[in-house]
Amino acid sequence: MKNIVVLVSGGGTNLQALIDAERSGNIIGGKITCVISSNPNAYALERAKNNNIPTRIIPRKNYSDPKAYSMAVLAALDEEHTDLVVLAGFMTILDECVTSKYAYKIINVHPALIPSFCGEGYYGLKVHEAALAYGVKVSGATIHFVNEKADAGAIILQGVVNVENGDTPEVLQRRIMENVEWKLLPKAVSLFCQDRIEIVGGKAYVKQ
Ligand code: GAR
Repeated sequence: MKNIVVLVSGGGTNLQALIDAERSGNIIGGKITCVISSNPNAYALERAKNNNIPTRIIPRKNYSDPKAYSMAVLAALDEEHTDLVVLAGFMTILDECVTSKYAYKIINVHPALIPSFCGEGYYGLKVHEAALAYGVKVSGATIHFVNEKADAGAIILQGVVNVENGDTPEVLQRRIMENVEWKLLPKAVSLFCQDRIEIVGGKAYVKQ
């Protein structure tokens, strides 16, 4: 059984999707053993507590720079005997001290079709604002491994939704969450826990 540690900063609907998937037997070979929040007030912490999942709070604002923060996260991950790290609405970029030690063991959900609308500064609603400002007709979400560059690691799964006339960032965000994020994040986590994601030449492939 792989130990899954989920990192959160906000509402935690993706964490909830993972909890629900685990409860219904759809995370094969893995168990959420800890939730770590960068934000002491994140509602995601309530979701973890309601499901008896141990929590840790490592407030981002207590650390002067990303490296110092990442060192604290790294220590916690090691203490938790982490096999898989899931960034589920985690709004802090992790330094290489974490991404190199946990190479191909950190999965992120990004709310756009990478390589569009991604990288530093693209997070949360800002991503959907940028997609609507550009006028794209489809958007979606990407589940990918995390490396030393923001949103640049190997893509595992992607899913698409249509952009409709009159969409607001909030409406588009919700459509992408419901139709893509909440489905594909648990699916990718389950594939990882079954050792069904293969890396060849820096790219990720799902084994049948
Ligand atoms: C989600 O849409 C997630 O894809 C996005 O923030 C939202 C968090 O929602 N993540 C990023 O933008 C990371 N760059 P949640 O807290 O309800 O899961």
